[in-house]
Amino acid sequence: MRNPFVYGKVARGECFADRAREVEELSADILAGQNVILFSPRRYGKTSLILEVLDRLRTQGVLTVYLDLFRITSEEEFVAAYAREIARLCGGGMKAVLKKVRELLPRLIPRVSLKGEGFEVEFTFDLRVEREPLLADLFEAVATIARERGRPAAVVFDEFQEIARWDKGEKIQRTMRAHFQHHPEVSYVFMGSKRHLMHELFQNKNRPFYRFGKHFPLGKIPKEEFAAFIRARFEATGFDVQQGVPERILELTENHPYYTQVLCHVLWDLFRDEGRLEAGHVELGVEEVIAREAHAFHELWDALPLKARQLLVALAKEGTPRVEIYSRAFLEKHNLGPPSSVQRAVERLLEDEVLERVNGEYEFTDVFFKRWLQRESP
Ligand SMILES: Nc1ncnc2c1ncn2[C@@H]1O[C@H](COP(=O)(O)OP(=O)(O)OP(=O)(O)O)[C@@H](O)[C@H]1O
Ligand SMILES: [Mg+2]
Repeated sequence: MRNPFVYGKVARGECFADRAREVEELSADILAGQNVILFSPRRYGKTSLILEVLDRLRTQGVLTVYLDLFRITSEEEFVAAYAREIARLCGGGMKAVLKKVRELLPRLIPRVSLKGEGFEVEFTFDLRVEREPLLADLFEAVATIARERGRPAAVVFDEFQEIARWDKGEKIQRTMRAHFQHHPEVSYVFMGSKRHLMHELFQNKNRPFYRFGKHFPLGKIPKEEFAAFIRARFEATGFDVQQGVPERILELTENHPYYTQVLCHVLWDLFRDEGRLEAGHVELGVEEVIAREAHAFHELWDALPLKARQLLVALAKEGTPRVEIYSRAFLEKHNLGPPSSVQRAVERLLEDEVLERVNGEYEFTDVFFKRWLQRESP
């Protein structure tokens, strides 16, 4: 039997814990043509959520485009990738698609390649061709298709903050905005996890996408909902789950979607033969996760300067993120020295994504790293 808990890839279908409220709200926004800026700390489930929402919207006739910018490193790659998604949207047989993309994107050169049962259209273009009209075609295409078919559309840019790496003069972003703002039939969704970068792109007055959409901060999965999901997944695969076990799991993972799946996955492997899960088992699962990760934790630790280490130990000892790290009480209690040096350590740890700022509090990105520190420190 397969382990029903997945991590490290998008959670779909059965693996997806409801998030009923978020699905509802996001779907309604998209159907209303609202632009949305969806953000959360790493691995909270943004991609899983949006793909779930897009699946549902497609069944209601919404045209959907999903583009992940994570591996895109230049304007040329971006143009080619977006054009490929537009071709996917065209629908119909090969001939019809080619005819449509020639009409919508006349400055791009399509090339058909066979893919499994079907086909895919890839694009290249003459690098000397004038960019403005080419980009105009590109950024109008989805709205044109939506209008022609009389259907709403949703265009999602995942890991959107990555655009800032190569769109240095903001030409692409400015052109996008100039076109997108005239498209009531299309909802544009921008997603990202690098909080400071997303903040910079959407909250800075001088940026093209300043206040371009509704801000949608994604939180963790509500405890009750997640506990029910965990119980159901264990029980469906033959486990007898003692009272309170899902709650204990969530306590130790602090409800974090990704790390909860990691722990559940490990517990499932450890106790599948027994077919029974008791509260006392949960700690054994944590031990196992930490043992598997210990090598990575050592390396991470090794690379950190002393002040950063001292701060992390202090935070791990406190246990809760609800600490005023620049308060005198905290600094003195843990012998951390002046606030300025702690500030440098904090910046470094945020940059390295060891810590994350969530609602003004500093949380460990990886709860098991915190557990490891709690275990290792005297
Ligand atoms: N609704 C959900 N139900 C169950 N598990 C989930 C859910 N959302 C996320 N997860 C867990 O969290 C992991 C990360 O999810 P996902 O990749 O969607 O997050 P993300 O916020 O897009 O991450 P990143 O910041 O890396 O882009 C999944 O592999 C899964 O283990
Ligand atoms: Mg993602």
